[in-house]
Amino acid sequence: MAIPFTYTASSGSRPDIPKWVPPKPTTMDLDWADLRTIELSLLDSADPKVIADLLTTTKAAIKEDGFLFLTNYGVSLEQLHRQFDLAQYLHANISEADKERLLWDPATGVFAGFKPRYGWKREPGQFDGIEHFNFYSPEFEDDERVPKCIAPFMDEITAFCEYLMNSVNRRLLKLLSMVLELPEDYLWNNIQSHDGVVGDGYFRHALYYPLEEQQRRARKGVRMYGHTDYGTTTLLFSVPVTALQIWESDNKWRYVKYKPGALVVNLGETLEVISGGHFKATLHKVADPPADQEHEQRLSLVFFNGSKGDMQSPLLQREGFVLKQGIFMQFKKLIDAGLSVPTNKEWREAQVSTRVQTAPEERLAGVKDINGTKYGEDLILGVPIVLPV
Ligand SMILES: [Fe+2]
Repeated sequence: MAIPFTYTASSGSRPDIPKWVPPKPTTMDLDWADLRTIELSLLDSADPKVIADLLTTTKAAIKEDGFLFLTNYGVSLEQLHRQFDLAQYLHANISEADKERLLWDPATGVFAGFKPRYGWKREPGQFDGIEHFNFYSPEFEDDERVPKCIAPFMDEITAFCEYLMNSVNRRLLKLLSMVLELPEDYLWNNIQSHDGVVGDGYFRHALYYPLEEQQRRARKGVRMYGHTDYGTTTLLFSVPVTALQIWESDNKWRYVKYKPGALVVNLGETLEVISGGHFKATLHKVADPPADQEHEQRLSLVFFNGSKGDMQSPLLQREGFVLKQGIFMQFKKLIDAGLSVPTNKEWREAQVSTRVQTAPEERLAGVKDINGTKYGEDLILGVPIVLPV
């Protein structure tokens, strides 16, 4: 049986902080993505039929949607809301001096530190109304690397992230290894990086400020442009302000509905590449919330898992590569042309340092029409990346 998350406050003073009050969910009738729900606790079942059904559902969710809801993973709603209290407190209390001292620099290949609400580079660009604080492994080891206001609470954030990494993500990777017909710990042992608290991944406290009407028009309804994540898995806590959209197989963007306490999980490009395309890294973006939530601040917690290594899967040996998948297909073309593909580290760092978040129609390699849908194209380390406009 997986042990649920527990945290006992160490002695010592810590300020009382305001509770996060979840905004009211939208009441609008939207085009929702119909995602499957995976109950992670079922993985502990001794009944082979339960396990077999769990694998079937997971395989279908990954193949057809590339996104899934994860429930019963060991963190209570109350424990989760405490983490939102902390994120809210960080964003409300980070000093101007700390914003400057801890300013991020994506050109280094990591997003560590504070992202101001002006674009995706260290230097201020266009207003996007998105602030982050990103905790990489070094941020957990040195209080000087986090805002002064959050330092008294780092033991709670660390315990939470350790649980996400060593229990939730480890069990999720066990489930995914089983789908690939690999030894249960294969992905954890060979693909997931887990040195330090978060390995080569990171934990993000994000806050989306509401846009003014003029900014909203300028951004054409998009807060964060479509992309796929580069790592192994992304664990996104479902939030009441509806904004996440995924690109579904019928070439339509659909909103993901709020499911209190659930994790919204998607797979990163590493799992797509190493699984030969059997797993898919699904495109997603952050859109404007519906009209009844436009005025709300959207607080979001995300745990991004990073990767290392290579693998051999029986499923891959038997069924071969799935060539219709995006990033994997691009890598395969390079291999077939006798060119080298980027290493795991090169790919991750190039993604971070080139993620400029410009509109797809303004991408360097221009706009293409593929089967009636318009795509903008980027070129990262010689690999073409096409994203729907
Ligand atoms: Fe993402």
